[in-house]
Amino acid sequence: MTPSQAAMMIPDAAVSSETALDRFGPLPRPDLAFTPQVAEATAPIYEKVKHIIPAIEWPALAPTIHAINILKKQRNAVILAHNYMTPDIFHGVADIVGDSLQLAIEATRTDADVIVQCGVHFMAETSKILSPDKTVLIPDMKAGCSLAESITAADVRGLRERNPGVPIITYVNTSADVKAECDICCTSSNALQVVESFGVDKVFLIPDKYLAANVGNKTDVEVLIWDGACEVHERFTAQELRDYRKIEPGVKIIAHPECPPEVVAEADFAGSTAHMIDWVKTRRPEKVMMITECSMADNVASETPDVDFIRPCNLCPHMKRITLNKILDSLLEMKEEVVVDPAVASRARQAVERMINLKS
Ligand code: 13P
Ligand code: SF4
Repeated sequence: MTPSQAAMMIPDAAVSSETALDRFGPLPRPDLAFTPQVAEATAPIYEKVKHIIPAIEWPALAPTIHAINILKKQRNAVILAHNYMTPDIFHGVADIVGDSLQLAIEATRTDADVIVQCGVHFMAETSKILSPDKTVLIPDMKAGCSLAESITAADVRGLRERNPGVPIITYVNTSADVKAECDICCTSSNALQVVESFGVDKVFLIPDKYLAANVGNKTDVEVLIWDGACEVHERFTAQELRDYRKIEPGVKIIAHPECPPEVVAEADFAGSTAHMIDWVKTRRPEKVMMITECSMADNVASETPDVDFIRPCNLCPHMKRITLNKILDSLLEMKEEVVVDPAVASRARQAVERMINLKS
């Protein structure tokens, strides 16, 4: 190799080891005092959460919320937050909130340079797959998901070999490697539509066996399963729901389709997190129980103070890794950057885009 060839290789090596902080540069750590200026700037936000966050807690939260909202502008960043984020994040700093489908669609639309994904790792990967040129950050790299961890790309290849010709649909709660092996993606918002879109009598819907069973109960298509489950939703039982109906007469019960089918059968309505929120906002029941991750009830309750929420609280330990302090660090230090191998990303993107295009 000539010296000039060697010199030409140096920039490549430098690019590959360059961190997001190298690209964007450092910013000074803000002062986190609860000053009159911070109180005034965050007053409209407190108005939205006053039914759920006690006034005594606000001085501890407001300075970080304020600092994040300033940093977002400095970094030209957008915060995409799942409906399971806590109210301080959901109402305080998020630019876009929604279910998995809405967040995936928004990731294709934003013109920000940076996406901070407040949710779990597969959501951040989905954003990176859809926006490969953007910097995607997740405030805690350990925010995983029991469904995503239940299946690997090699497992999908095995299914394909043993079941030639059967379409394989992957729930969005999977890694990019798994999505790359599948025909199309789906979320809980559109799983039935995706299953029926093939016009065949048999499909795989992986990896959530309960979502697959719940969709299978609504269609003539045979929906084959993988033995995965959400550790939050599988804990709910039908007996628990029947017991709540006895002690809370008149309560409306709405459930997420990651719950076991016997739980969904006991509910008055089942749908994605966004569909559950719409149901409460439109129907305005006197009393409601949301059978899902329990931060969501706090987020809706702050907007519907006329509705009484009965909270059977199951928290997702992965979603709860995302905190205001970690979001602040994420924007200051440009971490943790989510990277997806471009070859994998391009195959996974086809599966996600097929789903998004199906919608329109
Ligand atoms: P949706 O928001 O798409 O209903 O998904 C729920 C969920 O468990 C995400 O992890
Ligand atoms: Fe995964 Fe369940 Fe947590 Fe959603 S709630 S991230 S499906 S473990």
